[in-house]
Amino acid sequence: MRIGIIGAGQLGQMLGFAARDLGVECVFLDPSDQPPATACGEVIQRPFDDPAALAELAASCDVVTYEFENVPVEALHRIEDEVAIYPPPGALQHSQDRLAEKQLFDHLGIPLPGYHVVDTREDIDAAVDRLGLPIVIKTRRLGYDGKGQFVVREQADVDAAWQTLGGNDLIAEQWVPFDYEVSCIGVRNVDGDTVIYPLAHNVHEGGILRTSRSPVDEPALADTAEHYVRTMLEHLDYVGTLALELFVCGDTLLANEFAPRVHNSGHWSIEGSETSQFENHLRAILNRPLGSTASIGHAGMVNLIGDIPEAARKIDDAYVHDYGKSPRPGRKLGHITVISDAAAARDKFLDTVHRTVTQSSS
Ligand SMILES: Nc1ncnc2c1ncn2[C@@H]1O[C@H](COP(=O)(O)OP(=O)(O)O)[C@@H](O)[C@H]1O
Ligand SMILES: [Mg+2]
Repeated sequence: MRIGIIGAGQLGQMLGFAARDLGVECVFLDPSDQPPATACGEVIQRPFDDPAALAELAASCDVVTYEFENVPVEALHRIEDEVAIYPPPGALQHSQDRLAEKQLFDHLGIPLPGYHVVDTREDIDAAVDRLGLPIVIKTRRLGYDGKGQFVVREQADVDAAWQTLGGNDLIAEQWVPFDYEVSCIGVRNVDGDTVIYPLAHNVHEGGILRTSRSPVDEPALADTAEHYVRTMLEHLDYVGTLALELFVCGDTLLANEFAPRVHNSGHWSIEGSETSQFENHLRAILNRPLGSTASIGHAGMVNLIGDIPEAARKIDDAYVHDYGKSPRPGRKLGHITVISDAAAARDKFLDTVHRTVTQSSS
């Protein structure tokens, strides 16, 4: 059994490690030099939309998946008659355009922040009139880790927002004064069997995920989030892992965005769940029975961003994952997971790790 994975970054690497444990071979497609997944399989070093490389991948694999959202959908259409592609390209298409994504949430009755399409400078004024201040202007495509976003707090910010982002297809969103952020990860296999992970509570710093902790002791929120994710999985006839990011506002959940792939807020599941999101993604696309998503203790994860301080490698009882990437400001280089018997102990441990990671980083 051979799986083709488009993208060979850290998500590809962690999929590759999970595949090894299942006795499944992986081959990756990625134009970068020595990407993280080099550690776990052959990498075809060609552009994601290279027809010959895609044909080679399709011909040599039983199933193809992808580890990042910006795979050109046309590239997938080119090979979908040759090989099964999961998650379905239709899901990818929705996630690539924030407008299509929001229209999908609306269509499925999943609540979300107010939004307004922005094509011109005047559209921002109209968005302010309709949504009130503050709003956040986002590029509709290609944003990640908070990039391609501008928060308009007062009328005077509108020009700067337009100067920074004008020229792209944009969308304005209500700035949500959320209590905190959660994500809900679900997995569906070819037969339609579905499992859902416990909620993760996520904290971002500068638009980049810094910590996740799971489970979250809010059964009503977890039920609601599970319902939303199941609705999406069914509607999209989805196969694989999907992550839905949500804002918690009192007892209401507002959908922010979804990712049709394994997700950074589920990395804790490698040590903190009976079956990791990576293993379940592979089980889903191979149409094998899905593994239990029961938690093993209380998990916490801290991302290693920009550099990996020596002190971070020396914390007792912490699981350090180094993706083998070269340091660069704002780049995700690895993560650390901790597991405790109780939530309070986990929070304390996580705080210590967070402090160690950030105090010694440059
Ligand atoms: N409308 C909003 N209201 C409040 N915070 C927001 C809003 N949109 C984004 N954010 C903050 O910025 C982070 C990154 O934005 P997101 O839309 O998830 O983009 P990305 O694709 O970069 O993850 C969110 O997780 C949240 O912390
Ligand atoms: Mg996000």
